[in-house]
Order: sequence, then C-alpha cells, then structure tokens
Amino acid sequence: MLLRQFGRRRPWAQILNPSKALSTQVELNTDLRAELADLIPGQQERLKQTKAKCGGVSLGEVTVDMAIGGMRGIKGMLWDTSLLDPEEGIRFRGLSIPECQKLLPAAVEGGEPLPEGILWLLVTGKVPTKEQVLAVSKELKSRAQVPGHVFDAINALPKSAHPMTQFTAGIMALQVESEFQKAYEKGIHKSKFWEPVYEDSMNLIARLPELAAYIYRRVYKGGQVISADNELDYGANFAHMLGFKDAKMHELMRLYVTIHSDHEGGNVSAHTVRLVGSALSDPYLSFAAGMNGLAGPLHGLANQEVLRWIKFVVEEVGSDVSTDHLKDYVLKTLKSGKVVPGFGHAVLRKTDPRYTCQREFALKHLPDDPLFKLVSKLYEVVPPILLDLGKVKNPWPNVDAHSGVLLHHYGLTEDNYYTVLFGVSRSIGVLSQLIWDRALGLPIERPKSMTLDWIENYCKSKVSKFVNACQYWPFLYAVS
Ligand SMILES: CC(C)(COP(=O)(O)OP(=O)(O)OC[C@H]1O[C@@H](n2cnc3c(N)ncnc32)[C@H](O)[C@@H]1OP(=O)(O)O)[C@@H](O)C(=O)NCCC(=O)NCCS
Repeated sequence: MLLRQFGRRRPWAQILNPSKALSTQVELNTDLRAELADLIPGQQERLKQTKAKCGGVSLGEVTVDMAIGGMRGIKGMLWDTSLLDPEEGIRFRGLSIPECQKLLPAAVEGGEPLPEGILWLLVTGKVPTKEQVLAVSKELKSRAQVPGHVFDAINALPKSAHPMTQFTAGIMALQVESEFQKAYEKGIHKSKFWEPVYEDSMNLIARLPELAAYIYRRVYKGGQVISADNELDYGANFAHMLGFKDAKMHELMRLYVTIHSDHEGGNVSAHTVRLVGSALSDPYLSFAAGMNGLAGPLHGLANQEVLRWIKFVVEEVGSDVSTDHLKDYVLKTLKSGKVVPGFGHAVLRKTDPRYTCQREFALKHLPDDPLFKLVSKLYEVVPPILLDLGKVKNPWPNVDAHSGVLLHHYGLTEDNYYTVLFGVSRSIGVLSQLIWDRALGLPIERPKSMTLDWIENYCKSKVSKFVNACQYWPFLYAVS
C-alpha cells in the first residue's frame, strides 16, 4: 500500500523523463501490474485536463493530398509509448536507441538491452532497475506455456503455409483463453477494462516466443521442438528455442526484439492493433489483425525481401560484387517496376537509427561477413540512385535493410521466417499501448471518409469562393 501511494504521488515530469526518474527513485515496485495501477489515475486526469483545456486546438490542416495519399502527415492519433522524429528516428518513451542501450539493464556488462526492460519502459514510462527487469522476466516465464490445442491448430495447416500465416493462426488459437472476452461477457465495468487487457497482453507477449519457435522447428527442422530454458531471459530463451546456442546470437535477439518493439502508432501493424482494439476486440484479435498487416511486403515482410534480393545478387555474381555491378542490379530492380527493399520510409527522412545500431553490432561482431560488406556497399550505392528518381522522399536505409544479414550470419538463414521475429518483437510495443488505450478509455476509431465526387464538389466550391473573393480585392484596396 505504501509503495502504491508513493507511486501515485510521483510527479509526471519524472515519468516523462525516465533518466531523471532513475536518479531520484527511492522505493521500488517490482510488480509491473501494481506499478501500472499506480500510474493510471494520474494519466486519466492528465488526459481529462488536456481534453478540457486544449480540446479545440487545431493540430494542422488536412489537404486533399493527405486524404488520398495514405493519410500521410495527418496528426490524428494519441500514442504514448514511442514517437518518431523524421530526422532523428524513434524514441521509446523519450529515449533514443543509444540511450536505451545505455540505460536499460543488460544480460552482460555493456551488452544489449533486455527486452523485458523495454517492456517495463513502454508500459510505465520509467527506466527499470535490474530487479524490476528480473521480476518481469519471471512473470513472463510463469505465463509462457502455450496450450496444446494451439499446436494442433498450426498442425492443421500445410507446412508450406507462410510462417506468418501459421503465426497468425496460432495467435487466433490462443484467443480462446482471452480473459478480456470472458470478463466482457460477464459484464465488467469499463473502468476495469485495462485489467483483463493487461492479463491477455502479458500472456500473449509471454507465449509468442514458444509459438514462433514451434513454427520455425516445424517448418525447417523436422518438427524437433526445443523446450524453454527457464534460466534464460526472454530474448535468449527465444533464440534457444529456435535452436541457437551462440551467446552472440542471444545478444542479437535481445537487440532485435528491443529495437523492433514499437515505431509510434501510424504504421500499418500498430495502427491496425489500435483500430481493432478500439472496437473492444480483445488483445488476441487485435494483435492477430496487426500481424496480418505486418505480413505485407511494404511493411514487415520487407526484411525477407531484402535478404532474398541480396542472395539473388550473390547467386548471380558472387558476394564480392563491384559497385558498378551493384548499381546495375538496383537499376534492373527499379526498371522491373519493383521497389528496392530496405530503403525508404513513410515518415523517416534520414538513415533509420535501427539500421545504424544493427550496423554497429555488425562492425563489432562480424565485420568480415561478406553479406555485411554487401549491405555496406548498398548503403553507398542505393541512396543516390533513389534520389535521382526525383520522387522518393527518403532514399536512406530502414531497419529491414540490415536485420536479415545479421540473422543469416548466425545461421538463421530461412528468410521467409524473418517477419515472425519482427511480429514477436512488435507485440511488446503495440500491446503496451493497447493496455493504455483501455486504461484511458479511448473511444472507438471512426475517421471520416469521402467519395471522389464529394472531394471534387468541395474543391470546386472552394475555388469558386476564392475567385469570387478575388473580384472584390481591387475594391478592398481602394477603400483601405
Ligand atoms: C517504405 C515505403 C513503403 C514508404 O512508401 P511511401 O511513403 O509511399 O514513400 P515515398 O513517399 O517516398 O514514395 C514516393 C515514390 O517513391 C517510390 N519509392 C519509395 N521507396 C522506394 C524504394 N525503396 N524503391 C523504389 N521506389 C521507392 C514509391 O514507390 C513511390 O512511387 P510512386 O509514386 O510511383 O508510387 C517505401 O519507401 C518502400 O516501398 N520501401 C521499400 C520497402 C521497405 O523497405 N519497407 C519497409 C519499411 S520499414
């Protein structure tokens, strides 16, 4: 009780500035749910005040280009767990990737952050201590067992089904255990929605590695499943269940999960989870929907596409390809009406810091890997070519340009599995936000759509009003 009261009185400045919170934290709560419960009343009040004081403030205009251009740039969503700056890249609860690498607890001294730490950070807005991270790790382990019927559901699909199809089917099979659905049927009060949503989200995050590893072992390793190792943390255990023992692969997995966890709210997978959840569909239904979006080649499937593209180049001319040859391949790809996978972004306008930190990992651990060298060469070759097209808004590499090469180096060579890794990681961010969506009582989403007729007529009337106004300008000048 004392801890709860302490938490409730803590100023929000600390929560929004986790590094400050770290230095001033005195008493510690190692129970994530209790910590969250402490934070909710303050955030609810903050939202209420914002609505009351700023409800009428405009966040910017919406042009026809925006409405027909995938809603680019429209500020229409509250998403607290992370924010994407076009120039700087992602910040998780205010922390950049290098800051997370510095501040979040690691398994090895100076090593990569533990995914349990990013989960604590995203849910609470505070940098966790090692004890808090260990407590989350323990909690996830206690929730991790996947019920048998889920494997039966996956086994009903042909092994040739894309791993993302199997993954989504597995998530849907897990849905029968939804606490939220049961509570809703029993008539739970809306002020309590977040509680079963928290339970479902934590269960789902905990179970996804085993589900994902099962699919990997089923499809590529003759169905020889590897049991969880309860001594290992979330990232390392995931790598272990996939079949990887190398400590560096365990480090890579921790980094991978952390940096893929969240990328603000407007991207296809995150927005889908939010949208479906806003209908009070439970976290399983919402997350499965988001994963179907992640499976698209312009979104999460790009990591698979990148490695395929690179392998194709290597098959044709070897890994020691000259710059000129590489340019020819890029141009050939563009001429055949395809995008260069791993480059470009809807929001970012600089090199993705998720690319940069993976590059740093490669420089530290695998500087001589031939595919890494090829990826480095692409970094030089692709951007000027994309810039020359004159239409690409961001010619720089994104997260997917690098991830496949690192996984390939440690033996995870099955590229059509890569998006599943992305999916497991993404659960941490989108479900953290979904818990808050229900805690804050955010309403069902319902933006306004228009027909082309409506847009044309609206624009015509705007133009004619403008022309009419212009006729009076000389008069206005004369009298002023
Ligand atoms: C990510 C992506 C979908 C963003 O799309 P977007 O916001 O529409 O990007 P832009 O506004 O820069 O697109 C303008 C034009 O440039 C093209 N373009 C953008 N990135 C490109 C790329 N990597 N290769 C070739 N053309 C590209 C677009 O297809 C579009 O062409 P169009 O007008 O003929 O349709 C796009 O950059 C892309 O397809 N990248 C490759 C796939 C990828 O890596 N996805 C993972 C993203 S994390």
